[in-house]
Amino acid sequence: MKPPVRVAITGAAGQIGYAMAFRLASGEVLGPDQPVILQMIEIPPAMKSLDGVRMELDDCAFPLLAGMEAADSDHLDQGFKNANWVILLGGLPRKAGMERADLIRVNGPLFTAQGKGIQAAAASDVRVVVVANPCNTNCLIAMHSAPDVPKDRWFAMTRLDQNRGQAQLAQKAGVGVGEVKRLAIWGNHSSTQFPDFQNATISGRPVTEVIGHQEWLRKDFIATVQKRGAAVIEARGASSAASAANAALDTVKSLVNPTAKNDCIAVAVHSDGSYGIEKGLICGFPIKTDGKKWSIIEGFKIDEFAQGKIDTTVNELKQERETVKDLLPK
Ligand code: LMR
Repeated sequence: MKPPVRVAITGAAGQIGYAMAFRLASGEVLGPDQPVILQMIEIPPAMKSLDGVRMELDDCAFPLLAGMEAADSDHLDQGFKNANWVILLGGLPRKAGMERADLIRVNGPLFTAQGKGIQAAAASDVRVVVVANPCNTNCLIAMHSAPDVPKDRWFAMTRLDQNRGQAQLAQKAGVGVGEVKRLAIWGNHSSTQFPDFQNATISGRPVTEVIGHQEWLRKDFIATVQKRGAAVIEARGASSAASAANAALDTVKSLVNPTAKNDCIAVAVHSDGSYGIEKGLICGFPIKTDGKKWSIIEGFKIDEFAQGKIDTTVNELKQERETVKDLLPK
């Protein structure tokens, strides 16, 4: 038996956490021979609800669930202790009429404490996926609060946008979603993101060739993906949960398995200045990995239209950083 992987989750009894914990415990994410210990963290008033989640996990009798630990958010050192993965879901979710950036002053400060807790307690190989919004900037804050954790271990979730974009393109082209590859999401997980249809393929052919309708691609497609989170909130009366959990788990799966040659992972990472994007921002890029080490894929074609879109979303990231500059080191 392999040694267990420890996965810490904040907001574990919330809607996304509830849609995530069982799939992690089943072995679906980290592999059919990989035991998992779940370290579930909640705010003190939600600890009772977390007890219920733990009871249900017990009641699933998952053979790979090697342990469960619970901690409240006042004891993050305990919650993150020896964690190999940390998935940060906890924070105020967006309500109808709000932009994700509206959450910044409420959720931002939580990530200082979480970064410090990760640095103090997590395993030396820890990798962190930030889902709580605004996820790019929350990730930036946490990363700066944990200066000893290497910068290539920090990820913010743009996979939900990639999955959404793949579904839209597949439906438009009348093909299965698995035919859509290389859909990069540039920039911020927000209504300025750029779902890059220009470099994407359908059944190995450029999307722009398969879907000749430029107007649809440039306007409707981009807007649908950018506003999908708001559309779900409007329809459900609550922000996406199962699809967000699914995308966070897809992010983990994609980072631990080699990326296919004809594809890319969409995830926001610490910019190294690639594609002229300012160093240090947590920005959505096309990524590939051998399952251990990831890198930004070079050579995506960026024309004037795409550059304009990327500049807009990168400028928004800079503005968000400005709004939380008191939470970042001088
Ligand atoms: C989403 O994209 O559905 C989530 O980020 C929630 C939100 O606020 O849109």
